[in-house]
Amino acid sequence: MCGIVGYIGKRNSLNIIFDGLKRLEYRGYDSAGVAVINEKNEINYFKKAGKVKELENEFNGEVLEGKIGIGHTRWATHGEPNDNNAHPHFDMNKNITIVHNGIIENFKTLKKKLTQEGYTFSTDTDTEVLANLIEYYYKSKNNFEIAVRLALSEVEGTYGIACMCKSEPDKIIIARMGSPLMFGLGKDEIIVSSDAAAIVNHTKNVIYLEDGEMAVLKRDSFQIKTIDDEDIQREVQQIEYDLEEIEKGGFEHFMLKEICEQPESIQNTYRGRINFETGEVKLGGLDSVKEKLINAKRIIITGCGTAWHAGLVGEYIIEQFCRIPTEVEYASEFRYRNPVISKDDIVLFISQSGETADTRAAMKEAQRLGATAIGIVNVVGSTIAREVDCGTYIHAGPEIGVASTKAFTSQLMSLILITLMIGKHKGTISESELKEIAKELKALPEKIKQIIEKRNDYKFVAEEFKDSKNFLYLGRGFNFPVALEGALKLKEISYIHAEGYPAAEMKHGPIALIDENMPVVFIATKDKTYDKIISNIEEIKARKGKIITIATDDDTEINNYSDYILRVPNTLPIFSPILNSIPLQFLSYYIATARNCNVDQPRNLAKSVTVE
Ligand code: F6R
Repeated sequence: MCGIVGYIGKRNSLNIIFDGLKRLEYRGYDSAGVAVINEKNEINYFKKAGKVKELENEFNGEVLEGKIGIGHTRWATHGEPNDNNAHPHFDMNKNITIVHNGIIENFKTLKKKLTQEGYTFSTDTDTEVLANLIEYYYKSKNNFEIAVRLALSEVEGTYGIACMCKSEPDKIIIARMGSPLMFGLGKDEIIVSSDAAAIVNHTKNVIYLEDGEMAVLKRDSFQIKTIDDEDIQREVQQIEYDLEEIEKGGFEHFMLKEICEQPESIQNTYRGRINFETGEVKLGGLDSVKEKLINAKRIIITGCGTAWHAGLVGEYIIEQFCRIPTEVEYASEFRYRNPVISKDDIVLFISQSGETADTRAAMKEAQRLGATAIGIVNVVGSTIAREVDCGTYIHAGPEIGVASTKAFTSQLMSLILITLMIGKHKGTISESELKEIAKELKALPEKIKQIIEKRNDYKFVAEEFKDSKNFLYLGRGFNFPVALEGALKLKEISYIHAEGYPAAEMKHGPIALIDENMPVVFIATKDKTYDKIISNIEEIKARKGKIITIATDDDTEINNYSDYILRVPNTLPIFSPILNSIPLQFLSYYIATARNCNVDQPRNLAKSVTVE
């Protein structure tokens, strides 16, 4: 969502903060700002609607000298994204400055109370209320740490905050409730951030704050406490990736880089976890629940957006190969619809970021009801990864592009591994089938490379359809969720309206939309539904819709039915959602770039949605 960076040390803080904000911009990018305390203990700041680069181009570096500072890149929740509402915010006396991720739900009540005390406000934000609340307590206690603690004890909602006080200019205080926050320990310096991407350039030694904790950071020391003032000892952890992994590496966009990384990211998901001779799968993180999974009477999968689509594929394959009833729920609905969950149930939580507020809330609800919560998460050390009962990392590597690509295919691979593990031990997958699947799995990275090599074909089709107003995506069976995901990718980065449906559903309503202006993407790779898909294509052709098919390399029959064909290699049905997703990722990428859309930072979206 929004991004926080802070610095305290011997170096000039501004460049470090700007560098960090640029790395975090994928989390929110409607406005940005920095505040720095100089040698004379004055707070100077600059903030602006727009991208970090615009802020950097406009500000006067001289004024913002100082070795302690905080910065923010925003995704608006309260108040429109203009210069005034950008962070950092101040109390009315300009003693306290604060950057904040999250939502203070009772800000109206707090604002009323402060107004009665004579406080005035110059922005529409909930954050400014918190700055004033801290100042309110500072005036009576004359102690920054106590003031922050007392203010936070009145706050309801979610926050990750970093704040500074002009009267105590030697420290940054940070606190967290439901919104990630960590700090990196350098030599005589500490770098604060909501995301390791802003820290890894300086140090790999990080400390993650937990919910309900705050830390007082000085240049050469730190102290972690709960908001209720209990001391906390926390181990230093290592960031597991390098700077190169979060840079574009010669690609025009992160999204393109991440699409092209899939031969490696898929391999990283299964590396060391499968015996290619026997098909035996070992997932260390799930050892403690293996028996429970094998004997499960019901599995529930939940997540949001792309992760939810991965869950739908999971439902199809777990039911097909393990014969365990499986349901998929939107995480955002799960918590509020009083779900029927018992301690015998297993709930899988799929999340790239491991920070999505809706998924986290669903996890808490499932745990409260006694279910076993299993995470399928990408970001190591993220909140969901830490709070589930156990889990498996997908190891896709950092995903910076807002539209999820490589994380999706790695989520599918993780679900396949879980399926194989259960299926083998339940005896619902035969030895020979398992061996065949393991052999094909080994061949998958090479097949993904072949798809990537054909990217000019996808570009050509994208050029043809870049001005379309609507798109329909249709698939069946394992590939119905792939149709949903294809449509989501297109709408989020190109702003073209797109819908995904199970192909046969089309005649129950959406067929009314078909005319010569409607491109329809069919996932038509050969499996047991192929003949049915061909019939569905005929129905669209009869109404003059434009047919784009995803088809296997050796399928010549499809030539008779398609206006455009995006080819993929043959594979087993269980892997077809992985291969078929990749041309769809390219198609949306090239359509969006042909329309001059900012694919890495699409409007209104943020990489990780940490508010409900
Ligand atoms: C779409 C996309 C989103 C996320 C969703 C869940 O490209 O990225 O739909 O999939 O917000 O995010 P995570 O997986 O981080 O929980």
